[in-house]
Amino acid sequence: MYVVILAGGSGTRFWPLSRKLHPKQLMSVFGGKSMLQRTAERVLPLNPKRILVITNHLQAEETRRQLEYLRGVRIEVIEEPQGRNTAPAICLAATLIARHDPEAVMAVLPADHFIRDEDAFCSTIQKGREAALNGYLVTLGIAPDRPETGYGYIEAETSLRGDGPYPVKRFVEKPDRERALEFLAAGTFFWNSGMFLWRTDVILDQMEAHMPELSRAFAGITFSPDIWEPADLAPQIEAVYAMVKGESIDYGVMEKADNVAMIPASFGWSDVGSWSALPEVMEPDAAGNVVIGAPETVIADAAGCILRGEKLMALVGVRDLVVVDTPDALLVCARDRAQDVKKVVEEMERRG
Ligand code: GDD
Ligand code: MG
Repeated sequence: MYVVILAGGSGTRFWPLSRKLHPKQLMSVFGGKSMLQRTAERVLPLNPKRILVITNHLQAEETRRQLEYLRGVRIEVIEEPQGRNTAPAICLAATLIARHDPEAVMAVLPADHFIRDEDAFCSTIQKGREAALNGYLVTLGIAPDRPETGYGYIEAETSLRGDGPYPVKRFVEKPDRERALEFLAAGTFFWNSGMFLWRTDVILDQMEAHMPELSRAFAGITFSPDIWEPADLAPQIEAVYAMVKGESIDYGVMEKADNVAMIPASFGWSDVGSWSALPEVMEPDAAGNVVIGAPETVIADAAGCILRGEKLMALVGVRDLVVVDTPDALLVCARDRAQDVKKVVEEMERRG
């Protein structure tokens, strides 16, 4: 099995910790290792033949630096000249793998997700690998608990048998709130986790069927003897990326394909979408506060706060605040407005 780690996102909701050159996957949101490092370490028990990390050229240097300590593991960092969303990144990885091993199973994993139970994660991936060998596009589904509109929804034939894989009846990417409420109430829908498994030849066929332009653009790449050598590939990748438009695999293939199967994942998952998601993935104190870094923090009657910094910090008589201190920027934000942190980044970009 090959593992493809999608690490080209530019997450703006973790400002001021995340920056253009240092997005969420390269950050140590929890203190300690970065999300990318955790993602790479998590797949090692699966003994993958190779790990391909697909990232933007702006982040490539830091990505390589962060993975250096895993020397000895066969990791390739492949650079994209621009972000073009997930379908081109996946097509690039599949094209590379297909030259070595046309029917190999690839597991596609986002670089910036939290997973609580790593053993359960590995057994779910093994199960997914089996369904993928049978020709399915496999997605790992999460039981939904709110009408989230930023996710894909999967309607599966869960009544059929055991604990999956279940054939998928419908895949709906990012529904509006009304439909999300309807899906939640129906009880037969799962969230798409964004983690996929499929055979390389199967996904390339599906791309040819549903994204013919993308598929054609990649078909022209020629390979040197060692096709993993990024320097050889860079000019060709650049030419292909100049031609293709940005599209996600969810809209491009998953909504349209009829050979999708879902395996429910119960290993504890969060895509850690913003500061306000941290209490889901870290142990809050009795009053619901999460403190990261900030040694010797003093909390006098505060609740539901998320605090991150390096210096001595104190909270007195406040509720539901996000406070993030870095050497050159400070964020103070209402916890239920954490999604709007991206507006700060947009405003700064406008100012140049
Ligand atoms: N290499 C590369 N290049 N990676 C990318 C690019 C790109 O241009 N764009 C995004 N990624 C990476 C991100 O870093 C992230 O790890 C992953 O691909 C998914 O991209 P997002 O931009 O975070 O997707 P989303 O959150 O809108 O939706 C996806 O994830 C949801 C779950 O978190 C979809 O798959 C949804 O259906 C799903 O529910
Ligand atoms: Mg996401």
